[in-house]
Amino acid sequence: MPAFEVKGKVFFITGAAEGLGRGLAEGALSKQGKVFFIDVNEGLGKSTLAELAEVHGPENVGFAVCDVTNRQRFEETFQEAVDRFGHVDVMVNNAGILGENRPQVLISINLLGPINGTEIAQGHMRKDKGGKGGRIINMSSVAGFYNVFNLPAYCATKQGIRSYTKSLSLVQDKVISDFQALCQSKAPVTGLESATGKPLADLMAHSLSTVPPTLEQVVDGFFKLLTLERMNGAHLMVTKEITTFGEVDFHPTGDSYPPLAK
Ligand SMILES: NC(=O)c1ccc[n+]([C@@H]2O[C@H](COP(=O)([O-])OP(=O)(O)OC[C@H]3O[C@@H](n4cnc5c(N)ncnc54)[C@H](O)[C@@H]3O)[C@@H](O)[C@H]2O)c1
Repeated sequence: MPAFEVKGKVFFITGAAEGLGRGLAEGALSKQGKVFFIDVNEGLGKSTLAELAEVHGPENVGFAVCDVTNRQRFEETFQEAVDRFGHVDVMVNNAGILGENRPQVLISINLLGPINGTEIAQGHMRKDKGGKGGRIINMSSVAGFYNVFNLPAYCATKQGIRSYTKSLSLVQDKVISDFQALCQSKAPVTGLESATGKPLADLMAHSLSTVPPTLEQVVDGFFKLLTLERMNGAHLMVTKEITTFGEVDFHPTGDSYPPLAK
């Protein structure tokens, strides 16, 4: 497969009013892609839309309020993006929360949300159904590889979505769209709070001894993953020290990372 050109591609990103999703949206826009994003936070979504439109042009960015657990609304907003930009090339299922004290909500957002998004995007992208193909990236976490004693339900969702993504990549011939998982170490956190009310950064400091990557490192890693020549089923792990692709055994000290790519 030829290397993927971001310029002119249409991105649909969930949970991009702030945090990593917003960073990915800015990255895509700055590489001359087009972005339609959804978020449950209407006020922040609108102000983010205004800021992105001012810098990158209102013709290149769109926003709609949507909860990824609401399948009907999710389908409507995806169609809104297709109507606006003609099609979607890259689906990024990024929206996710922490919430050990609300496992049903946590599982709905972190696991059913990306499954909803994957199915919707696949329906649009499948070449055997008249689509143009495309790439689907699901946001996992270091917790998608590594068991964290005080985040068991979160780990279950992130390991679950990684397994879901990998499994779908095995039938790539049939579905004719590509699947990838982005897994990153604790990144600069904006809005996430732990079930105990402690900031995520504090909580994670007790769970993982990794040094957090910067938002720029995660965004840079995302575009390395997206533009891999051979990407179906690939995953990418970003930590402060190194960015790795493929199936790696994660070790919290970073010692065991095979340096597959920079
Ligand atoms: N920040 C980290 O350290 C870190 C580390 C590993 C993985 N992740 C994963 O990266 C993703 C983004 O994390 P973040 O740190 O940017 O979070 P964030 O809280 O900064 O941003 C998440 C965004 O998703 C939105 N959102 C929440 N629930 C939603 C729903 N049901 N429907 C639509 N939008 C919804 C929020 O309003 C917010 O705008 C998540 O999947 C998270 O699990 C984050």
